[in-house]
Amino acid sequence: MTNLYLIGNWKQHGSRAAIQAFSKQWSFNANPALRIAIAPPFPYLQALVEALPGCELAAQDCSVHAQGAYTGEVSADMLADLDCQFVLVGHSERRQYHYETDELIAEKLAAAQSAGVTPVLCVGEQLSAREAGEQEDVVRAQLRSALAKSQPNLLIAYEPVWAIGTGLTATPDQANEMHAMIKQEVESLLGASQATPILYGGSVNAENADALFACPHVDGALVGGASLEAASFMAIAQSASNNLSH
Ligand code: 13P
Repeated sequence: MTNLYLIGNWKQHGSRAAIQAFSKQWSFNANPALRIAIAPPFPYLQALVEALPGCELAAQDCSVHAQGAYTGEVSADMLADLDCQFVLVGHSERRQYHYETDELIAEKLAAAQSAGVTPVLCVGEQLSAREAGEQEDVVRAQLRSALAKSQPNLLIAYEPVWAIGTGLTATPDQANEMHAMIKQEVESLLGASQATPILYGGSVNAENADALFACPHVDGALVGGASLEAASFMAIAQSASNNLSH
């Protein structure tokens, strides 16, 4: 049985009260083959791990630097020190609003791996690229630059930018096709024996999760809005659990 991964990305949402409310509702009998993590804003990492003991921790970003005079930055070593298992790298919102380049993303990936935190590399095309039929070229180029210095221990999240926060979701066929291409590309870049898990992200919710998890190349989901409420995140976790045997 292969592992499935479910990661909630809270983006810039949350509070101590929200974590308490979430933890009161959260009850999920996790199967060890289903890894569930939440990525809260940095100040809430500690509170989250204390409130949700069964849940793994993810961060939304990390610095390329190990330490030093870099005001506002958080290093991957600090994340490891907090027992953070995963860190998102190259989310489209970091690329768009913080001008992160593929070169910087490659460095962040390497920094996370050398600190022992598993990076979740986010890739995905804009709507214009999808409409022009260039989605595979765009994603392939992102993978080639980001994985230039990478070791094999990582996850990849395919998040088409046009599906993030829009209520539009890639169809299961679109997701499955892209994931198959990503797997092939990662195998050729990092070695033929690698089975890198590929998560889908972009308006995943309790209604569409089943069909996405049923796809043979979808190894999990990176969930934004629907991870903020325990009820919807638990429903998605249940779908993942039901699809563990694919
Ligand atoms: P939504 O699930 O809100 O579309 O966000 C997806 C995302 O960006 C997760 O990283």
